[in-house]
Amino acid sequence: MSIIRVAIDGPSGAGKSTLAKAAAKALGFLYVDTGALYRTIGLYVCNQGIDPSDEAVVATALPEIRVELRYDASGTQRMLLNGEDVSGEIRLPEISRYSSAVSALPAVRAYLLETQRNLASKHSVIMDGRDIGTVVLPDAEVKVFLTASAQVRAERRSRDLEKMGTPQPFKEVLRDIEERDWRDTHRDTAPLRQAEGAVLLDTSEMDFQESQAALLAIIRERVGQ
Ligand code: DC
Repeated sequence: MSIIRVAIDGPSGAGKSTLAKAAAKALGFLYVDTGALYRTIGLYVCNQGIDPSDEAVVATALPEIRVELRYDASGTQRMLLNGEDVSGEIRLPEISRYSSAVSALPAVRAYLLETQRNLASKHSVIMDGRDIGTVVLPDAEVKVFLTASAQVRAERRSRDLEKMGTPQPFKEVLRDIEERDWRDTHRDTAPLRQAEGAVLLDTSEMDFQESQAALLAIIRERVGQ
C-alpha cells in the first residue's frame, strides 16, 4: 500500500490532536503532533532565559537543541529534549506562549521542516499543526482545516487544564487563545490559513463522537479506506 498523508491544520484548542490521534488509530496511521516540536524548542528557550522573539539569539541556540520524537509502547508520542523526556512540561501554559513566539521565527520553522517531512516519507501519517497543508506537505492526499469558535475552544482547553491539575481562570484561557490565534494567523512566515484544497471542518456544534465521525468520513472518502 502506498503512503497516505493526511494534513490537519487549525487554531489551538480546535481538538486537532485528540481527533487526529483517534483517526490515526482507526486507520492504522502514525499520528504526528507537530506543535510538540515547537513546544520543545519553546521549553529550551524558556529554560535558558532567552527572549523567544529574538531571532538571532534563538537561531544561535538551535544547534544546541536536539529534538527527538518517540512512540511509547501504547503508541503515544513522547518528546525528548537533549535526551530528556519533556512530554509533560511542554504542555504548561507558559510554554504555550513561548512556543507560539518561537514558531513565528523563520529559522525555527526551517530547522523543523526536514524532521516533519522525513516522518511523512516513511509512514502513512496524520500530521497536525498550522502549516502542514500549506508548507510541510502541500501535496498531502487529504487536507483538513479543523476549527471551532474561540469560546468553544477556550471551554475545552479549560477542562483539559483542570484535568492536568493546572486550572486557570476561564478569562485568561480565552485571552490566551485569542492572542495565540492572532499571532499564529498574522506572522509573516507560514501563517495559519486554510490550505488550497483543504476541507473545512468546524466542530463548534459537534461533540467528540460527531467530530470524529466527520473527520473519518472526510479521510475515507478521499483515500477510499
Ligand atoms: O498545536 P500546539 O498548541 O501544541 O502548538 C504550539 C504552538 O506552535 C502554536 O502557537 C503554533 C505553533 N505551531 C506552528 O506554528 N506550526 C505547527 N505546525 C504547529 C504548531
